[in-house]
Amino acid sequence: MSSKLLSASILSADLSHLADQIKEAELAGVDWIHVDVMDGAFVPTITMGPVIVEACRRVTDLPLDVHLMVNNPSRHIVDFINAGANILTIHIEACPDIRADLSNIRSHGCKAGIVLNPDTSPSTINSVFDIVDLVLVMSVFPGASGQSFLQNSLEKISQIHRDLESINSKAQIEVDGGVNLENIKSISDAGADVFVAATAIFRSPLGIHNAVKSLKSALK
Ligand code: DX5
Ligand code: ZN
Repeated sequence: MSSKLLSASILSADLSHLADQIKEAELAGVDWIHVDVMDGAFVPTITMGPVIVEACRRVTDLPLDVHLMVNNPSRHIVDFINAGANILTIHIEACPDIRADLSNIRSHGCKAGIVLNPDTSPSTINSVFDIVDLVLVMSVFPGASGQSFLQNSLEKISQIHRDLESINSKAQIEVDGGVNLENIKSISDAGADVFVAATAIFRSPLGIHNAVKSLKSALK
């Protein structure tokens, strides 16, 4: 079995048929469901909250990968975990005390991930590598699906991969933004383990099923 995982972002799903869309992605072989939470402050848009995570939890047993694009997320951590999040990722740019927040996530039995924006240096996160299960590299500026992958993310992924290896960390590297059939292999070769895709799954002309199959086979 490949250790490379595909996480389907429901931001581009037809939310009036969310259960069906998740099931179709799951049956095609998606590994995780990615939920993009935006607060209208850390990013301009407002999207989903714990009630949507709870709804996803009722339709799938796949891990729920919840990406908080929220200022000072500490007050919401428990709500998202109670709603069913299995992986909770928080932005270094949004947290006054990121170490405390990551520890808090872990203390509730949830995987803790740290996210960096495209203009944030990898060196800003090295000091918390000991308490992260996952590093999420944004390959677009957060706020919307459907943007183009920023090519300089590849070097950043390689750098983080080397930094994690140098301390024997088992943390996964996840990449989010503009992932598609054309670029997924090169992102994988740079050292990424988990690939988020919204447009390339839920808006693909191939349809959800074939889009997932194609992305997964491009990773083999
Ligand atoms: C962007 C979100 C992404 C987004 C990805 O702020 O964090 O997860 O849904 O969308 P695509 O795959 O279309 O770039
Ligand atoms: Zn995301």
